[in-house]
Amino acid sequence: MCGITGYIGQQQVVPVLLGALQKLEYRGYDSAGIAVLNNGELLVRKAKGRLTVLEERLAHETIAGTLGIGHTRWATHGEPSDINSHPHTDVSGRIAVVHNGIIENYARLKEWLQARDVVFRSDTDTEVIAHLINYYYQTSPGGASGGLLAAVLEVLKRLEGSYAIAVVAGDFPDRLIAVRKDSPLIVGLGKGENLIASDVPALLAHTREVYFLEDREVAILYRDHVDLFTEQGEKILRAPSHVDWDVESAEKGGFAHFMLKEIHEQAKAFADTLRPRLKTIAQSSGSTADAEYDINFDEITLDASWATAPRIVITACGTAWHAAMVGKYAFEHFARIPVEVDIASEYRYRGPVFNRDDIFMVISQSGETADTLAAMRLAKKGGARILAITNVVGSTLSREADLVLYTWAGPEIAVASTKAFTTQLMCIYLLALKLGRLRSLVSGTDYQRYLVALARVSAQAEMVLGKKDMIQRFASRQFNKHKVFFMGRLFDYAVSLESALKLKEISYTHSEAFAAGELKHGPIALVDENTLVVAIATQHELFDKIASNIREVTSRGASSLVITWEGEKGFSPIADEVFTIPKTEDSLSPLLSIIPSQLFAYYCAVQRGNDPDKPRNLAKSVTVE
Ligand code: G6P
Repeated sequence: MCGITGYIGQQQVVPVLLGALQKLEYRGYDSAGIAVLNNGELLVRKAKGRLTVLEERLAHETIAGTLGIGHTRWATHGEPSDINSHPHTDVSGRIAVVHNGIIENYARLKEWLQARDVVFRSDTDTEVIAHLINYYYQTSPGGASGGLLAAVLEVLKRLEGSYAIAVVAGDFPDRLIAVRKDSPLIVGLGKGENLIASDVPALLAHTREVYFLEDREVAILYRDHVDLFTEQGEKILRAPSHVDWDVESAEKGGFAHFMLKEIHEQAKAFADTLRPRLKTIAQSSGSTADAEYDINFDEITLDASWATAPRIVITACGTAWHAAMVGKYAFEHFARIPVEVDIASEYRYRGPVFNRDDIFMVISQSGETADTLAAMRLAKKGGARILAITNVVGSTLSREADLVLYTWAGPEIAVASTKAFTTQLMCIYLLALKLGRLRSLVSGTDYQRYLVALARVSAQAEMVLGKKDMIQRFASRQFNKHKVFFMGRLFDYAVSLESALKLKEISYTHSEAFAAGELKHGPIALVDENTLVVAIATQHELFDKIASNIREVTSRGASSLVITWEGEKGFSPIADEVFTIPKTEDSLSPLLSIIPSQLFAYYCAVQRGNDPDKPRNLAKSVTVE
């Protein structure tokens, strides 16, 4: 996720762009940059670091101009650096581009351009766009007279992936071109000025009249009007929309809190994590079920030693440790590799025993958690090869690990982790299934069935979110409970751990998770009328066992909620409430079964008057011991 903006009008553009970028910084903050058209010449300024670094640099010079584009970056391809920051320019330096999204076929496009003597300066996927526009600008029918639009339309035919793009060119001081597919882009219509941004708040200082660009629509912004086109170059006529959100809620996309927004972003985050790795190798019809898939990680190679690794060790902290717990079940289930999971702060001090052939995994949203880094360094010193799963490109973890899988969840602002967790799970499932297949433990048919199931998870997450009012109502009745216990078995136990953490983090309710079989060995002594027990029940083979556990707590006065599959009737007679999630494979259930718990924690926190985004005593990234 990145933020892009652009302006054409009467005002000096530098302060306008910086003002918009401040509003977009939540979308990415590892570097920022602008390009301004000044007397037919493009001036590009960019800097690694927060937007303030760029602002400080710009404070020392005067850049005049009333047309420009800006970008705030959340690195995906290429570490955060001055060079990799946007805007990117073509070889002539006369075309500048900012981009939010991922160009999936950039490697092929880069080779194609290099074969035509184009020299690349950055490691980004975006740079291909600038060079391609120049290529078509110079060579398309009609040559330069074909214009910038013709060149951009040619380029769109070649791009695969997601993008919101803004383009300015020295030869066209009267226009700015913008286009989007699968990444948001909004055009703001002002008086004598027009602008674009990835999100509404960046426009509100100028206008409330907007076009929400549709996928594959192209906008040309002039000072006094805006034209919209299809990607075939046909003009589109449509009335603008009026935005009446206040600035604060607009920053949160209309949601009351970042946490709720991020819970909702999970459906898209699943798709973003999966899309670059799930390759369609054959397709007999247009339907997901008829496709044949494989998993391919462009960023890491799973050589033969992976298939023969004797053990996987995973360390992490907090929510990431819960993802590791799901990993334990997933790797053992699909690939039959023994997995040891350890809390990073424990691992680093217990004189761990490891074997050079083990796979050592570290999971961290931020890639900066002190204990996780220390555990990784210890293992590295002992000769282990490290695979990191992280959300932050250029983080310490990503730089020091041997192999990195990014979760592509985009920036997570709320302290309580939601979309980072579920995308960590998605990465784990992809790895576990691939290893299972490499070790011939998952049959070809089962592999396809699981991959089809993964491809459906994004849409199923939307369905769970569509029923959030039920959870809200339930929370409004239960938020004052003194104790909330979550219980489950196997995958459901791992989800219970994360559910209890979410609830305690933001609602400050005393909540714990138990492996349901352990209930009788102690925890049941705590159960009384002031207890809510949430049972996660997605493992068919253990339904009878969990049903007994539910009876054990309700007969002692506890209220109960069961989270289970749609169509499961067995729990309704024994539980106070049942919340169902769309059916997927039992072994993939954590991808969906955690969502109701996230919503429950969120609504309990709100009911109790807490700020879910900034819970007391907690920090998003714990960089000290
Ligand atoms: C803090 C955060 C948690 C997070 C944990 C690990 O405790 O509040 O939400 O799960 O750190 O963070 P990491 O960035 O390593 O995933």
